[in-house]
Amino acid sequence: MKQIGVLTSGGDAPGMNAAIRAVLRRGISLGLKVVGIRRGYDGLIDGDFLAMNVSSVGDIIHRGGTILLTARSQRFERPESQDLAAVRLDRAGIDGLVVIGGEGSLHGALELARRGVPVIGVPATIDNDIAFTGNCIGFDTAVNAGAEAVNRLRDTAAAYERVFIVETMGRHSGHLALAVGVASGAESILIPELPVDTKEVCCRIARRMERGKSHSIIVMAEGAGNGFELAKRIGSSLDVELRVTVLGHVQRGGTPTAFDRLLASQLGARAVDLLQDRRGGLMVGTEGSGINAWPIDEVLRAERKIDLGLFELANVLAY
Ligand code: F6P
Repeated sequence: MKQIGVLTSGGDAPGMNAAIRAVLRRGISLGLKVVGIRRGYDGLIDGDFLAMNVSSVGDIIHRGGTILLTARSQRFERPESQDLAAVRLDRAGIDGLVVIGGEGSLHGALELARRGVPVIGVPATIDNDIAFTGNCIGFDTAVNAGAEAVNRLRDTAAAYERVFIVETMGRHSGHLALAVGVASGAESILIPELPVDTKEVCCRIARRMERGKSHSIIVMAEGAGNGFELAKRIGSSLDVELRVTVLGHVQRGGTPTAFDRLLASQLGARAVDLLQDRRGGLMVGTEGSGINAWPIDEVLRAERKIDLGLFELANVLAY
């Protein structure tokens, strides 16, 4: 192993830069050359490679986004593009690849592994919807951003005696909304994995009003429906004033928390160690207080289930 590549793909996640830094600096410490591949799999198909040195990753550990740029590559879904990507790596003398991203990125990594490329996946997505790891890089930052937003909204909701519906990111999964909801003491949490029960939401608001609490916060994942429609339904049953706040991409940017930086540093470095040991087709992740690696195909076959215990707890605590 003389030279390795690193790319970020899919939705950016705070901490991706810290992971790139770890890959580069661990690689250099082992005597490897490191090449950055820009714009994810699109850049791999196009040969958009960037020679990197120690200084290339200076002052980025605390920055959100990704210095390598990212893309959700539709071209890479075609087998011909996957073949071409493997050829590009071979011609550039890149002996191993680190892919930093979410589920779609891991699918891409698996295709490259099937073509003989030693590849290690590093889970990074604010959705935290990947099995076999405690946290994905970026999740902690996004939860904190969401909880901070709800803190602010609760101030104005209380002042005006309003009900706020706060939409978090998470088109297909509710891990983020659930964590934000619990951390911010939301009165109701709505996620795509469970049916939305408008009656129950109304009952909770009404019960609070009976206790003299004239404001409420409902945290809703992007994939759990339309916040404005929900507001209409609640407004037709209860005499309350409603507002909807969509957090959107605000929740995906920003400086990564120390937790995400630590995680990214450890996972990025371990990915390089595995390549150095001539391993491939694996995803690194946390297991207890340590780090482990699992076959990517196994990771992709497993579904990361919603923590129903946490959901129940949220309902009990937000009485
Ligand atoms: O990266 C994951 C995610 O942020 C989801 O939470 C969200 O549903 C989606 O990406 C948004 O994608 P885009 O940035 O392409 O609009």
